[in-house]
Amino acid sequence: MAFRVVQPFPAPQARQDEASAQRADSLGLTRRMRRNRKADWSRRLVRETVLTTNDLIWPLFLIDSSQARSAIAWMPGVDRLNIEEAVRQAAHAASLGIPAIAPFPFVEKSLRDATATEALNTRNLMCRAVRAIKAEVPQIGIICDAALDPYTSHGHDGVMEGERILNDASVHILTQQALALADAGADVIAPSDMMDGRVAAIRAALDASGHEEVQIMSYAAKYASAYYGPFRDAIGTNATLIGDKRTYQMDPANSDEAIAEVALDLEEGADMVMIKPGLPYLDIIARVKDHFRVPTFAYQVSGEYAMIMAASLNGWLDGDKAMLESLTAFKRAGADGVLTYFAPRVAEILKAGG
Ligand code: PBG
Repeated sequence: MAFRVVQPFPAPQARQDEASAQRADSLGLTRRMRRNRKADWSRRLVRETVLTTNDLIWPLFLIDSSQARSAIAWMPGVDRLNIEEAVRQAAHAASLGIPAIAPFPFVEKSLRDATATEALNTRNLMCRAVRAIKAEVPQIGIICDAALDPYTSHGHDGVMEGERILNDASVHILTQQALALADAGADVIAPSDMMDGRVAAIRAALDASGHEEVQIMSYAAKYASAYYGPFRDAIGTNATLIGDKRTYQMDPANSDEAIAEVALDLEEGADMVMIKPGLPYLDIIARVKDHFRVPTFAYQVSGEYAMIMAASLNGWLDGDKAMLESLTAFKRAGADGVLTYFAPRVAEILKAGG
C-alpha cells in the first residue's frame, strides 16, 4: 500500500502553547496522538476498521457417521460433523448472522482412489450435505471447494502420472466435480487446487449447464504452506500425502507471482479471490486489494487456528483477544472477509456486544 505523507491538520506553528510552556515539565507538543486514545468513546469514534459478523465464512468438516461429532486432535474445539449435525450447525450459524459456510469432507479411506472417482459421485458426502443444508437452511451461503485431495489415495489435489501432478487432466475432473456440487446446490465454487486454467474451465461448464448464477471464489494465491497441517489431520490426508504440493501451490517467497495469479483468475471469470494462508501473508492481501479492488478474502487456516488455540489452552495467550486481533488485522490489511474456524465464537462475542 502506498502511504502519502499528508498533513491532515494545519501545519504545526512554531509558536508555543502558552499554558503548556508555563509548565516546566511540558514538552510543548502541538500534536499528542494519545489524546484520541484517552477514553473508550473516543477510541471507538476514531476506529478505522470494524470487524462484523458479515465478514465471516465458517469452514467446517463433514463425516459420514452415525455419531454427531468426532474430535480433530490437531484442532481443539473443532469437530467433524455428520450431516444432521452440520445442518443444525448451519442453522445456528445463520441465526448468528454468519453469511456463509465452507464444508470440507473427511472421506472414508476405502472410497479414495488414484483418480478421485468419489468426487464425481452425485450422492457423495459433500453433495448429500449440501442438499440437506440447502433444504433446511436456504438463507446461508454454501461455498464448496473444488479440489481432489479428500478423494485421492495419494492426497494430491489433482491426478498423478508417476510423480507428476497432471494439470489438464486434473482440470477436467475438477470441472465435473464443480458441476456435481453446483447441481447439489452449492452457491459458490471455490477452486483450491491451483491447477492452471481451472477457473475458466469451471466457469464455462457452469454456464453451459444453467449455473450462470453460481459464483466462483478462487483460491487465487494459495501458497505451499506448513500451516495446512491440522486441516490434513481433519480430512485424513496427512498420512497418505505423497511428497508435497510445491509443483502447484505457490512458493512462500513470492509476491509478484500472486498478482499474476489473481489477474489470471479474474480474467478467467473469478467473482472473488482468496489469499491463503492468512496472517503470514497480510502483505499479499494488502497488495492484491490495492491492485485489483475486487472482493478479496483471506483464509485463516488450520495451523493459524491451532497456534492460537494451543497458546490459549496453555494459558500463554488470551485466546479470544488474539482471535479478535488477528481477524481485525485481516480487515485492516484490506480483506473483505475471512474464512475462519473461529467464526461462530466471534459471532457470539460480537452479538454480545464485545
Ligand atoms: C485442499 C485444501 C487445503 C486447505 C483448504 N483446501 C489443504 C491443502 O491444500 O493441502 C487448507 C485449509 C486449512 O489449512 O485450514 N486443497
